[in-house]
Amino acid sequence: MRAAYGFGLFPLPSYRDAVVGDWRLVRYGPAPVDGYLPGVVMEPWRWVLHQGSTPWMSTSLMEQESHAWHVHQAQGTVVAAGLGMAMYAYAASIRPEVERVVVVERSPDVIAVLGEAAGLVDWPGREKVAIVEADALGRDVAARVEAATGGREPDYLYADIWPDCGAAEAPAETAAMVRALRPRAAGWWGQELSFGLWCRKAEREPDEPALRDYFASTGIPVPVTPGYAAFCADVIAGRLPRRRWPTIARLWARLRGSPRP
Ligand SMILES: C[S@@+](CC[C@H](N)C(=O)[O-])C[C@H]1O[C@@H](n2cnc3c(N)ncnc32)[C@H](O)[C@@H]1O
Repeated sequence: MRAAYGFGLFPLPSYRDAVVGDWRLVRYGPAPVDGYLPGVVMEPWRWVLHQGSTPWMSTSLMEQESHAWHVHQAQGTVVAAGLGMAMYAYAASIRPEVERVVVVERSPDVIAVLGEAAGLVDWPGREKVAIVEADALGRDVAARVEAATGGREPDYLYADIWPDCGAAEAPAETAAMVRALRPRAAGWWGQELSFGLWCRKAEREPDEPALRDYFASTGIPVPVTPGYAAFCADVIAGRLPRRRWPTIARLWARLRGSPRP
């Protein structure tokens, strides 16, 4: 991945089972799964965060590949909307380029369950991380984040508050966070699929000029590199083909009730 696109996978926190309220983190055994990029792998295990019967997030290859660009962008002061499994917060906090990671999470139970499950107090970059219990779309988010950054402007905002990849509301909600927090650069989970859907509607090829036009149209300052444009094209070719037949891995994931397939 690194050789093809200029960025790659990243270390994960060590997890253990935990339950708080209706949130729980559970380990699952081996299964074939799709990546975010085309291809199926046999995963030996993965952790999944559930709220009641809703799976919210997992450590699957799909999640890792779809977070990789945003981890690569993390530098200086980073704001992450949505704690989830703290996968992004952990990976950003151990980067030497990162000075501060402010995570905005609305659920106190998620904060508690991850504190228990991801061993937050023992993280190597723990002193860089602040968790703010707040609604990332709320009126007071800018003031709450500013208090946690000590008034420093965010260098990167990563928004991941949706259970579905390429959620229809994601670009507009990320744009609202950008207006409130004024980061130098930003991105949201699944932005490659949002771009792919835009290309389909605009009858454009998913190339670098289209990528720049799409992000300009959202009002979100998303950085673009040739490697990232190639990544977007490959994700779109695999996940948004013109006619999509379910793969065995996708059928298996559906049967198992996997999160964010
Ligand atoms: C998919 S998870 C985030 C995963 C995270 N990127 C990671 O690396 O583990 C989404 C999280 O966003 C939180 N969330 C949903 N809506 C929110 C909002 N409006 N403000 C803050 N957090 C929110 C959920 O409680 C959940 O913890």
